[in-house]
This record gives sequence, structure tokens and C-alpha cells, in this order.
Amino acid sequence: MYGNRTKLGETMLARKILISTLLASLIGFTGMANAKIKLISTIDGSEFKITEPKAFGDTKKKDNVMTAAETEFLKTGKNIYIGDAEAIKRGKKRFGWWSCTQCHGPTAGGQVGPGLLGPTFRYPKDATNKGMFETVWGGSNGGMGGKGFGIMTADDGMTVDELLKTIAWIRAQSDSGLTGNEGL
Ligand code: HEC
Repeated sequence: MYGNRTKLGETMLARKILISTLLASLIGFTGMANAKIKLISTIDGSEFKITEPKAFGDTKKKDNVMTAAETEFLKTGKNIYIGDAEAIKRGKKRFGWWSCTQCHGPTAGGQVGPGLLGPTFRYPKDATNKGMFETVWGGSNGGMGGKGFGIMTADDGMTVDELLKTIAWIRAQSDSGLTGNEGL
């Protein structure tokens, strides 16, 4: 009798431990989810999410596999391509490919569109890489359409990785010392 009750008690204890472990991991998981950045539209201030698999990946590899830079950016808002010579070189090419050059000039100093070198911007948040990403991805109210995948047409546009490289190139053109990763 007594032995059985102990056994039952042990089973209940084991269950409690199991449940609290499960709960802890769930809380841990939502905690992580909360730590992720919220992307905010420059047009209307609403939150937007990037879910389409084709919106991710190295455009040279064309494999749509999420890069380390994309994972880090979506988690913290940090652009790890800042100062990365290889990524900057690629970013320069993408700046031309997506016609950014035509409106912002070959050195991003401004043409029809405003200069992108800062340190002050039309949209003050563009001093951060997250802010600039949001503006280019989704577009702005004052005459620039979004360039992110699926924004212009359903099956075209920049990948997250590609835009991060482009932003790294833009930052590298400025002698203001602004990296856009300040405070991260
Ligand atoms: C057709 C012309 C055009 C093209 C192409 C274009 N832009 Fe723009 N861009 C503009 C205009 C005009 C504005 C100002 C919009 C406003 O005031 O809302 C702007 C604004 C911006 C801003 C915000 C600047 C600030 O001061 O806050 C960034 C960043 C930017 N563009 C980056 C890019 C990048 C990167 C590309 C290429 C992927 C690109 N643009 C392509 C016309 C263009």
C-alpha cells in the first residue's frame, strides 16, 4: 500500500517536472520570439512580416537558403555586412542592378532622389540599418516604391540578404562614420 502511494507520488512528481520543463521551454521559446525585431512600414507605421521563402538567400547561389546575415538581422536588427569588403562589393552591384543608381546617383550622393549618405535622413530612422531596410523594402510615401521581394510584383524583388549587402555598400560611401549598427 505505502509502497504504491510512494510510487504514485513519484509519478506525479515526475509529471510535474516534465510539465514545468515543457512550460519553461515554451516560455523560453516565446521569449526568443519576442526578442526578434518588428519590421515597421515607413509608409504607414504598421508592422510587416517577411514570410515568402523566395525573399531570402544569397542571390548568387539562388538557393533561397537563409544566410547567417539574414538570421542575425531578423533577430537583432544588426547588419553584419557592414565593413565586409566582399559583401560591399556585391552590394554595389545590386545598387546598380535595382536602378538605385538612376535616382540616388552612382555614389549614393543624390540625383533625382535624395542622397543616402547621412548622417541625417528624410526618415530619421534610416540612420539605423533596420530603418533603412524598412524604407527600401516597403517603400516610402514620397515617391519611392518598395524594392523587397513580392512588393513590386509577386515574384520579383530584392532578397533580405541582397538588401543588407546594398545597405552595407551605401554606408561604406559615407565618410560620416555612421555604420547603422550603433547601439547594437
Ligand atoms: C525611381 C527613383 C528611385 C529609385 C529607383 C530608388 N529610389 Fe530611393 N528614393 C527615391 C525618392 C524620390 C526618395 C524620397 C522618398 C520620400 O521622400 O519619401 C527615396 C528615398 C530613399 C531612401 C530614404 C532616404 C532618407 O533620407 O530617409 C533610401 C534609404 C533609399 N531611397 C534607398 C534606395 C535604394 C537602396 C534603392 C535601390 C534598391 C532605391 N532607393 C531606388 C527614389 C528612388
